Amino acid sequence: MKHSLETFFKPSSIAVVGASANPTKIGHAALKNILISEYQCKLYPINPDDEEILGLKCYKKLTDVPGPIDLVLISVPAPIVSQIVKDCVTKKVKHIIIITSGFSEIGNHQGEEEIKKIVKGTDIRILGPNTMGYKNASDGLDASFAFGIPRKGNVALISQSGALGIGMIYLANNEFVGLSKIIGMGNKLDIDDDDLIDYFAKDPETKVIGLYIEGIKEGRAFMNSTKACDKPILVVKAGKSVSGARATASHTGSMAGIDAIYSGAIKQAGGIRCRDLVELFDMARALAEQPPAQGKRIGIITNGGGVGILLSDACEENGLVIPKLSEKTYKKIEKILPPSVKPNNPVDLAGDAGFYRYWSAAQALIQDPNIDGLIVASVHAGYARPREYTGAILKMINQQKLHYEYKKPILGMWVGGKEFEDLVLDLKAVGVPIYPSSWRTARVMWALWQEGERIKRTQKK
Ligand code: COA
Repeated sequence: MKHSLETFFKPSSIAVVGASANPTKIGHAALKNILISEYQCKLYPINPDDEEILGLKCYKKLTDVPGPIDLVLISVPAPIVSQIVKDCVTKKVKHIIIITSGFSEIGNHQGEEEIKKIVKGTDIRILGPNTMGYKNASDGLDASFAFGIPRKGNVALISQSGALGIGMIYLANNEFVGLSKIIGMGNKLDIDDDDLIDYFAKDPETKVIGLYIEGIKEGRAFMNSTKACDKPILVVKAGKSVSGARATASHTGSMAGIDAIYSGAIKQAGGIRCRDLVELFDMARALAEQPPAQGKRIGIITNGGGVGILLSDACEENGLVIPKLSEKTYKKIEKILPPSVKPNNPVDLAGDAGFYRYWSAAQALIQDPNIDGLIVASVHAGYARPREYTGAILKMINQQKLHYEYKKPILGMWVGGKEFEDLVLDLKAVGVPIYPSSWRTARVMWALWQEGERIKRTQKK
């Protein structure tokens, strides 16, 4: 049986082949990243020309290392890689990460075939070639040569592009989205998206799985793993256009395939296709922090009529419904509004709405059995006070954690400048999903509805 990815992500011993004392080399960065990690394991630099690198005893060959090795990172030029893989087989290594480029992405399929032949019949698992490696934020291990320390959280990211993977770490940090693991897939010689979906499906540190994909090699396996996974799976699939497909072939050697088939397959398997990375992070934050919507009926609260209309349009365009208020809810909201304003959905609280008006209206809507999810919006207009608005959202989210009737998703949406943005950062830092766009907010609510539908379907089976 192939080695479990548990030892891949939590190895007891790691060797870096091509570790270098030269700080400009990738083999140096890879060794240093592991060393900097808080993770406890044995670490062996391998380089024929050095006695010691970064204070660690250096071995000339893998086979000179005295104890067993769970994971080997290879950072030597492509022509030497197959020899190192042979050494890995002799040493009975469990997992290999081939950082080295110069394989199928440049047409060197033969190089990959040779590696496959060498490991055939063994239980070794290989990531790459042409990969950055991975960062396991849950356990504090950085098995990559890339910069960037992810904020610890519960979103696992699988990226076919290494550079984009690194960018995604910064983007996630900036958006206050915490990661459990991030992994660069490279050319997918062995470890594939489906293996990782299976692993993350059982990983207690992961609540949401996000993928950036250029091509899928094993379509059936991908579909089966996605279907079997009981966690939300968000997919950005690139290579839709003619030029995008051409760039895909030269980037990771993948075939972009027919886009509509990918869309259909992702949907059929219960995954959610995102339009871009920003949308993936928008949705990931909400899916990780909020309950799914049990239906598509959305209540909207705003202090500005225009924002309410924009949100209604965006919601309806995404298949959501903005129902009329029930009589009971109407009466509750009527009591808290100025006499000149009549309740509706979207509920317009008027420009001077403070904490109490927001909070009371939100409570009324969330307790309404005809409402499945809530969007609370604020525009920094004239005498509006953003802190009153953010306070009301925080109060609602805290109640959501305590009371059953609040187990409906709550999203924030804002329009404003720097002062508002600073307050929004405080909300994001504690996991509140809040967005500066009606379209983005509606898309996230759509994703929460899709997740609710997926759960219902799996429960029926
Ligand atoms: N065992 C161990 N170390 C060996 C070795 C062997 N058999 N043969 C050579 N080395 C050492 C070299 O001596 C060198 O160490 P030094 O700096 O002390 O001299 C080190 O391994 C690296 O070899 P070098 O020839 O200097 O290669 P490099 O560091 O310039 O490039 C790669 C190697 C892997 C980084 C490069 O080929 C590559 O693929 N770069 C792109 C990687 C990439 O972007 N991946 C995808 C990311 S998304």
